[in-house]
Amino acid sequence: MSDTLLELKNVSAGYGEVKVLKGVSLKVRRGSITALIGANGAGKTTLMRVVSGLIPVTQGTLALDAVDITREASSVRVERGISLIPEGRLIFPDFSVEENLKIGGYISRVRSRQSELIKQMYRFFPRLEERRNQAGETLSGGEQQMLAIARGLMADPRLLLLDEPSLGLAPQVVAQVFEKIQEVRSKGVTVFIVEQDVRSTLAFADYAYVLENGELQLEGPAADVRENPKVKESYLGL
Ligand SMILES: Nc1ncnc2c1ncn2[C@@H]1O[C@H](COP(=O)(O)OP(=O)(O)OP(=O)(O)O)[C@@H](O)[C@H]1O
Ligand SMILES: [Mg+2]
Repeated sequence: MSDTLLELKNVSAGYGEVKVLKGVSLKVRRGSITALIGANGAGKTTLMRVVSGLIPVTQGTLALDAVDITREASSVRVERGISLIPEGRLIFPDFSVEENLKIGGYISRVRSRQSELIKQMYRFFPRLEERRNQAGETLSGGEQQMLAIARGLMADPRLLLLDEPSLGLAPQVVAQVFEKIQEVRSKGVTVFIVEQDVRSTLAFADYAYVLENGELQLEGPAADVRENPKVKESYLGL
């Protein structure tokens, strides 16, 4: 089994005439927390959409566990174990916590294990169990983010993609979300995370990529990226 779980080779993608990603090559190591940082509009969300199959590539290839998934539909990628927690969380506001979880587990690979997975999620996020019958929209911001993560985990992923999980949350709550993400990794799930909170993210990620205008500018162990003068100036305000 190779060390690499996800590999992008020379990937370009965009929206019609708008070219966003320009020849991105990167690897996400199995069992790692890998971070993607970059300014607003750099193409981070676009890259997450490309990996989850929501938008097609115009050039290049993607492989999961050395299997080419470049042309696979997003539903097939979910079955293969790629789960995206999108920017803005996008939980179902009128559905209860438990209904939101069920939707996350409604794929053929895990459907027969749905109730077992829901129990696991309640053990992992006790607050969600206390609120299992409450509508999604009535949860606090932090609870909604936990629900979004739990819904993503209901697909029992190998690779969890997180797009800005800290967005709009109070610092204390952000710290709780980041702790949970590290617990997710300790359960054997590989994490690929986009974050604006660069300082905290580089403190717990193993490896990081910096994206600027659709191109990778820098990569390395997170501790090295954190010490990079350009990163310090542009993203850490030092
Ligand atoms: N659906 C779309 N149609 C056309 N252009 C889009 C669409 N979504 C994003 N873009 C453009 O693609 C570029 C990259 O957007 P993207 O959302 O990937 O950036 P980002 O790095 O995630 O930014 P942010 O940090 O603000 O979330 C931006 O210029 C954006 O305007
Ligand atoms: Mg984004």
